[in-house]
Amino acid sequence: MQTQSTPRQLEIEIEIDATRLIDELNTLATFSSIEPSPIGTAVTRVVFSPDDLRARAWLKSLAAAEGLSIREDAVGNTFFRWTGSEPGLPAIATGSHIDAIPHAGMYDGTVGVLGGLEAIRALKRSGLRPRRSIELVLLTSEEPTRFGIGCLGSRLMSGTLDAAHADELRGAQRGSEEETLAQVRAAAGFSGPLAGTRLPSGRYHAWVELHIEQGPLLEREGLRLGVVTAIAAPAGYRFTIEGLGGHAGALLMPDRRDALCAAAELILSIEKHALATGVIDTVATVGTCDVYPGAVNSVPSRVTLQVDIRDTDPTRRESVMQAVRRDVEAIGKRREVRIAEILVNADDPASCSPHIVEVIDTAGRAAGVAPKHMVSRAYHDSLFMARIAPIAMIFIPCRGGVSHRPDEYAAPGDIALGARVLAATLATLAAE
Ligand code: GLV
Ligand code: MN
Ligand code: MN
Repeated sequence: MQTQSTPRQLEIEIEIDATRLIDELNTLATFSSIEPSPIGTAVTRVVFSPDDLRARAWLKSLAAAEGLSIREDAVGNTFFRWTGSEPGLPAIATGSHIDAIPHAGMYDGTVGVLGGLEAIRALKRSGLRPRRSIELVLLTSEEPTRFGIGCLGSRLMSGTLDAAHADELRGAQRGSEEETLAQVRAAAGFSGPLAGTRLPSGRYHAWVELHIEQGPLLEREGLRLGVVTAIAAPAGYRFTIEGLGGHAGALLMPDRRDALCAAAELILSIEKHALATGVIDTVATVGTCDVYPGAVNSVPSRVTLQVDIRDTDPTRRESVMQAVRRDVEAIGKRREVRIAEILVNADDPASCSPHIVEVIDTAGRAAGVAPKHMVSRAYHDSLFMARIAPIAMIFIPCRGGVSHRPDEYAAPGDIALGARVLAATLATLAAE
């Protein structure tokens, strides 16, 4: 990699077709179950659902129209390549995801995929002939909705998830636990051993992801562009609480071992210990609660909770979990319920490449905006791409810092700016 202190901007005219890019984002949002929402376009696009498959087919048609070559791996990660003049060199990659959690917005992930495609189109229009190939990557299941673990595609590509067992993954929520990844991906048309999804370190010279910030800092500071220097470390756990079920009228209160009441204590314990660090970087969420048998006149006998906890410091994150485990033991004894913990993932944070950060800085300043250096508290596929390539991310603001909600919104001008800075960054890196 070149180590010059100020990356040189290439002398090319980059014109982003903002109207087309926004139209495409709107079209992509229609590949979704339609959920009336008073606060915005509610998008739900769970991985390998019919909507996800229709969106993928549409995206492939757009990429084919640009003359990009298309490759899909066994888990549906999709690679759109613009071949450079020296195709043997490690390529430059950009991309993100198009799956969306239930009742989400229309910009999370999609800005990086369609913005990446528009960046490539703009570079083609500029007459650039890149030295390194430039690849747009659509990553499978960044969201944990379907299989209970986020960044499925990038975990497999980076060897973070054991390919030998990944096919046995199934969802944690009622209704999603029936089918395994093996069954779901086969039904979606993706076959072959998952081990083949692993990419060698050195495949990519650089990875750059464009994304909405999903937090309030850029907007609060009146800024239009961020460059990510580090990504916080997420962890996921499942707790299953087993108590005693029975008739809601006849089972006497002193005899109860109500699994949901125990779960309620556990949820509050998680909140209490996350707050107790006194550090704004510690966040913990219990995002799902599955109650069995789930009838108003039946005492809950089993509850499953999915817990998401993140921190910029994994040691502090683990100390929160230690405190929670002490409470788990006390709750279990006092309420006479069995509480089992399953670790889903406990990841390390990632650092971005100072060189790519500098290339983005230079591209931003050339576009008239100095990017703010910031930490990503949300996780992204970039967290795992960092294990096989130097990475960085470009952030654009989103209104009110809102994400994972139907009223998620990014301004067209900021989306176009992000795509333009991405294009300039890809061009610079591809020339190295
Ligand atoms: C990504 O969707 C995250 O939850 O950070
Ligand atoms: Mn998301
Ligand atoms: Mn995302």
